[in-house]
Amino acid sequence: MKTYSGILAALFTTLVILGCGGGDKGDEILIGEFGSLTGTTATFGQSTHHGLELAVEETNNAGGVLGKKIRLLVEDDQSKPEEAATAVTKLITRDNVKAIIGEVASSRSLAAAPICQQFKIPMVSPASTNPEVTKKGDFIFRVCYIDPFQGEMLARFMYNSLGFKKAVILKDVKNDYSVGLAQYFRQTFESLGGTVVAEQAYSEGDSDFKAQLTALKAAEPEAMFVPGYYIEGALIVKQARELNMTMPIVGGDGWDSSKLLEVGGQAMNNTYFSTHYSTDDTAAAVRSFVTKYSARFNERPDAMAALGYDAGLILFDAIRRAGNTDGTAIRDALAATSDFTGVTGSITIDERRNARKPLVILTVENASLKYKESIQP
Ligand code: PHE
Repeated sequence: MKTYSGILAALFTTLVILGCGGGDKGDEILIGEFGSLTGTTATFGQSTHHGLELAVEETNNAGGVLGKKIRLLVEDDQSKPEEAATAVTKLITRDNVKAIIGEVASSRSLAAAPICQQFKIPMVSPASTNPEVTKKGDFIFRVCYIDPFQGEMLARFMYNSLGFKKAVILKDVKNDYSVGLAQYFRQTFESLGGTVVAEQAYSEGDSDFKAQLTALKAAEPEAMFVPGYYIEGALIVKQARELNMTMPIVGGDGWDSSKLLEVGGQAMNNTYFSTHYSTDDTAAAVRSFVTKYSARFNERPDAMAALGYDAGLILFDAIRRAGNTDGTAIRDALAATSDFTGVTGSITIDERRNARKPLVILTVENASLKYKESIQP
């Protein structure tokens, strides 16, 4: 018995060595992924990775792409822009990947995009919404909407749907996404006739927001806008409630994480935030994704999970249409993506390599998420 399994093990080792050495990866297409698997926004990277894994598994089970299997190589950027740049450099120069998926956070996509552009390796961001990201070059794409749209729609939502005219803003000055979204929100809110009666700032990693909140409260706002990421978002809402600021608080897509309610709990009631899809959507693509994802990972798929999945499928579709894995050919095929049925809606890549998509607004009632409305572009 021992000898038998010994022989099997030796045979297996030989096969693995032959498979890797002899194949020269000719039977696989290498795709790089960089994301925040650890650090301040770890759920962004983890959820995206799960969504992408599902897309890779499904694609490979259905025969792969151009007769080859997709192999995903993942680099953790620890939620840091410098590490994002290092990660894509490694994926391109050491691993020789044919295309790259990442990042969620705009600051990290902004750090990595110039490198992908320089090496002419297509980069597809699942979820970075800052407009500057795809301006880094013609190899840089995204499969989500952008912040001028998100900011405008949130301002309209606060002014028209909620009916508030006096708002305050609390933004993260170290975060390109937060700074941009605050600016786009303010532009629309003021053009509609509203007033931003006070604005305050924090930096990612802060945990005490009482001084800023006290100053904002003194301006007597009807509602507060907090464009930032989920950990600070939840802490800000909690501390605002402790200061007896009971008004509606509105966030952007950076709030979408299972940690939001874990950290914020009941304090999150009477908040609203924009995101990219709702798990309650009855569309066939959403139902099937939510079922498959929940069964595979035993968790609710948040927006990044859905966007990671869509980014993967769009990239694999483009490689198929390109007919080969040359960077420029994949780039051209990505640019031609039109009416792709994704979980997060129908996806068409425009001439600026952005996607026009509906925005979904969720609200929190009794410490759980509720679908509020969808806004078409
Ligand atoms: N849009 C955010 C950014 O650009 C990232 C994000 C997307 C976060 C989707 C959560 C959900 O930084």
